[in-house]
Parts: sequence; C-alpha cells; structure tokens
Amino acid sequence: MKIALTAAALLLASTASAKTVVVTADRMVDVLSGKMVEQPVVVITDGRIASVVSAGTQRPFIPEGAERIDLPGKTILPGLIDMHVHLGGTPLVQGYRALEYTDSFNTVMAVPNAEATLKAGFTTVRSLGDYDYADVALQQAIDDGFLPGPRIVPATYALGATGGHCDENTNRPSDAKTSPGVADGPEAVRAKVRELRKLGARVLKVCATGGVFSRNTDPGAQQMTYEELKMAADEAHMLGMKSAAHAHGADGIKAAIRAGIDTIEHVSFIDDEGIRLAKEKGTWLGFDVYNTEYTLSEGEANGVLPENLEKERRVGTIQRENFAKAAKAEAKMIFSTDGGIYPHGLNARQFAVMVRFGLSPIQAIRTATSNAAQALGWEKDVGAIAVGRYGDIIAIEGDPLADVSLLEKVDVVIKGGERVNQDR
Ligand code: ARG
Repeated sequence: MKIALTAAALLLASTASAKTVVVTADRMVDVLSGKMVEQPVVVITDGRIASVVSAGTQRPFIPEGAERIDLPGKTILPGLIDMHVHLGGTPLVQGYRALEYTDSFNTVMAVPNAEATLKAGFTTVRSLGDYDYADVALQQAIDDGFLPGPRIVPATYALGATGGHCDENTNRPSDAKTSPGVADGPEAVRAKVRELRKLGARVLKVCATGGVFSRNTDPGAQQMTYEELKMAADEAHMLGMKSAAHAHGADGIKAAIRAGIDTIEHVSFIDDEGIRLAKEKGTWLGFDVYNTEYTLSEGEANGVLPENLEKERRVGTIQRENFAKAAKAEAKMIFSTDGGIYPHGLNARQFAVMVRFGLSPIQAIRTATSNAAQALGWEKDVGAIAVGRYGDIIAIEGDPLADVSLLEKVDVVIKGGERVNQDR
C-alpha cells in the first residue's frame, strides 16, 4: 500500500511538472529521409522530442498549456554536431605569443568559445584535446545549467608520443615540459587511457602522426606504432569510449584504421588503400577542409610561426584533393573542423567547402547530423529531429539543400527544448 501510494504520487508529480514546447516552422530538413517536410510541428516534452508531424497531412496532438516557438518563414534542421573542436583554442594567440599569457588563459577563453559555438547552431561537440581539463569543467557547468554551451564530449588531453604532435615542444631543453597526455609503448598507453577516463575523458584522442601546428614534427610521419594504436582503441572500447586519431600521413592513417580507431581526423595524405580500408572497416573520416583558408589569410598576423605556415601550405591543397577522392568513393564522413584553429562560431563555413569538393548539400548536412550521431554512438539522442531524441533544433532562412552556405547564419537555436537565443 505504501509503495503504491508513493508510485502514484511520483507519477502525479512528474505529469504536473512535464514541460512541453511546440516548435512550428515553414519547412524542416528531415536528414534521415533527405526530404523537405512542409509545415512541421515538433512537440518536445521534458527536453526530448515526443512527436514530429507535417501540419498539412496530420493533426498534431498539442498538450494544453504548451509553450510555443513559432518560426514562420524559417527552415528548421537538427542541432549541428562538430566532431572536432578545441574549446580552449584561441586562434588570435598563436606561436610564442601564447607564452605571454598565464596558464589558465585557455581555460577562461573556453567559456565564451563554448557560447559562440552554441549560438552558431552547434548543439553538440567533441572537444578533442584541451588543457587543464577545461572541457570537463565546461561540460559539467553546461550540463548543470551554470553556463550556456553545447553538449560536450570531452577528451581532456590528447594521448601521444614523447616529442610528438601532442607533446609540448616549444620550450628549450632547460624549460622542457611533457604533456600529461604523453605515453610510450603499449602498456603505458593502456595506463594512460585509464587515467584520462578517470579524469573525465569520454572519448579518446590519440595523435598517430605529426602535425601542422606543432613544432618540429612532420605531418606525414607516423608517431604511434600499430601496437600502441591497437592498445589505445581496445582499451577505450573496453571502457565504453569511442576513439579518434589525429592522422595526416598515409601510413599513420592506415595503422589507425587497422587498429580499430573509430574516427580519423584530418586524413590529409590518405591513399587509395586507406580509402578502401576505411570503407571496409566502416571507419569515419573527418577532413577539416575549411581552416586552411583562415590560417593562410590570418595566421601570420596571429603569430603562427613560419614553420607551421609552411606546413599548412603543404597540407591544405592535398587534403582537399583527397577529400574529393574520398567523397567520390563514398567513404563515411563526419564533420570535423578543428574549431579553435579558426574562431569558434564560424564552424558552418566548412559546409560550403565540402560541397565545393564533392559532397551534395544533404550529404554535407548529414556529416554534421545523422552521421555524426552514429559516430558518437548517440543516434538515439542527437542528429535528427525524430521522436525520442533531444529537442535540439536550429532555424535558418531559405533552403540549405539548394545553398548549404545558408547554415552560416543561424537565426534561432533550441537546445533540449529551450530557446537559447533570439532572432538576430
Ligand atoms: N591541428 C591540426 C594540426 O596541427 C590542424 C591542421 C590544419 N590544417 C589543415 N589543412 N587541415 O595538424
């Protein structure tokens, strides 16, 4: 009797507090079918989508007292997902200029960066490498409602080799530092994955090759062995995490794919065998094809060192050619921009580049919605305006299936059924 009463009371309390929001618009891009839906009515209850109908053909059930967000004239899409950002990254402070700022500078800057990302329509991001566990702190502050920002999947520190792309290589030997993400040899990699998970990582980031922005590394050169990569992927999977590998060079890319890493980031020098392997294994490819433009026009003024500018010139063009090849081969793609290399909030500029180099607009949109959700293992939660998923919705003007660059101007952002900004 006592138990029954409590259950009934609980049920009453939960119905009484259920919050319902109804979103209407002129059109909706249904990313799952690839079709435009006219006069969509989306009902969101307690942050999750309870129903989606087209008012022309079906009658929506709208609970009494529901809050309304009517968006006449607008096109709605699912909240966007960027699979590769660095929330603490500030593009205006590059090279040795970073030494002028105190240690917590990046952590503090991550707060406005997260807000700018959300306001640009990105309601979910993976932060693939940040200092000082800033991504974990932000995730906690955002999830608990203290700060505005996207849903964050944090990697904390990127795991990599001594002297590799993700180590600290800017200091002279007497001031030498080692990144907390450094691990050499399979057993050390195992221990490091466990440690990062313990300290808040929910995705594992590894640095399989050299990079563009690090000092004294070669983007084409592999920096983690197959055995280390295999250990990283297996250990991450055992702990329930996906894994992402920074990899520019063809050998590092193939080793990472063979090792079972879930997403390859940058992918610049991938060869035909690599594309074939990725398709065979179902590995997601995240080419960051926008940021080259920003670095080559603004990098020097921001303090990017000549060594790094030179590497960018070498990598950018080939990366786009290989993106076109992978697009043609219909490899599985995700939207990874490396936000932080360019200013946060400009993430959507990558859509137009992806279309210029071979994806159709709907394919490009899927990289940042349904594909990204699958790659996260969050296809029940994000990536489509569909029943059961979070009420994460953006509204723009016009038809993004005709002109994908319209996504660069997002008018309204709704996250978990809450409107986070007003019309601009
Ligand atoms: N974080 C990457 C690196 O330093 C950025 C590469 C950017 N360049 C490019 N063409 N995608 O290697």
